[in-house]
Amino acid sequence: MTILVILGHPDPDSFNHAIASSVRETLQASKHHVIFHDLYAENFDPCLPKEEIPQEADLPELIQQYCDELSMADGIVIIHPNWWGQPPAILTGWIDRVVRPGVAYRFDEGDSGEGIPVGLLKAKSVLILNTSNTPDDREKTVFGDPLELLWKRCVLELCGVKNITRRMFNVIVTSTVEQRQQWLEEVKVLVMDMFGDKTTKRKDPGSKK
Ligand SMILES: Cc1cc2nc3c(=O)[nH]c(=O)nc-3n(C[C@H](O)[C@H](O)[C@H](O)COP(=O)(O)O)c2cc1C
Repeated sequence: MTILVILGHPDPDSFNHAIASSVRETLQASKHHVIFHDLYAENFDPCLPKEEIPQEADLPELIQQYCDELSMADGIVIIHPNWWGQPPAILTGWIDRVVRPGVAYRFDEGDSGEGIPVGLLKAKSVLILNTSNTPDDREKTVFGDPLELLWKRCVLELCGVKNITRRMFNVIVTSTVEQRQQWLEEVKVLVMDMFGDKTTKRKDPGSKK
């Protein structure tokens, strides 16, 4: 399978980067084809220009490549911290520019955008891995867990994704080395649960079967 992994965090020494390494290693060990984007390292431009808003827009080559990868992915992993109840802006910009009409969703004929979109993503399983400094109960009762709503309802279900697992690791700032190590082990289990043995492996190009 081809798995698209998107990371939105600026610091290579962060726990988010450690999560991304664990995800990539686990997927590669399972012989998946991994497409990895560290949006900060790639200096991804998150600003959607007006020319790209129409569905039929001519996209810059790089954005077209991101869109093609999103279309062909069998599964997706998204990794980012909670910043003000949102993903870092570089990642919301990736949503704006890449999770676009004609790629991730479309409207039925006669619907000019006011109706309920039809999801187009081939990927039916998405794993969201988040970090924060707020305990779960406070995140839910005081803030309403906006990342849950954003990823599940506002983005992924609308794009046709059925199987969504989201795990929030917290509280990062007070966590011990041992706790982080345990979390990284849990990341491996989550990846294997979603994309492990029960999935079809990518065929070896040399194989006749
Ligand atoms: C700009 C910014 C906004 C943040 N907003 C929140 C927030 O709303 N809720 C929260 O729990 N933590 C917030 N944090 C803390 C981060 O979530 C935390 O530092 C991060 O998850 C730790 O993981 P890391 O070591 O990989 O950076 C914020 C941090 C930054 C830099």
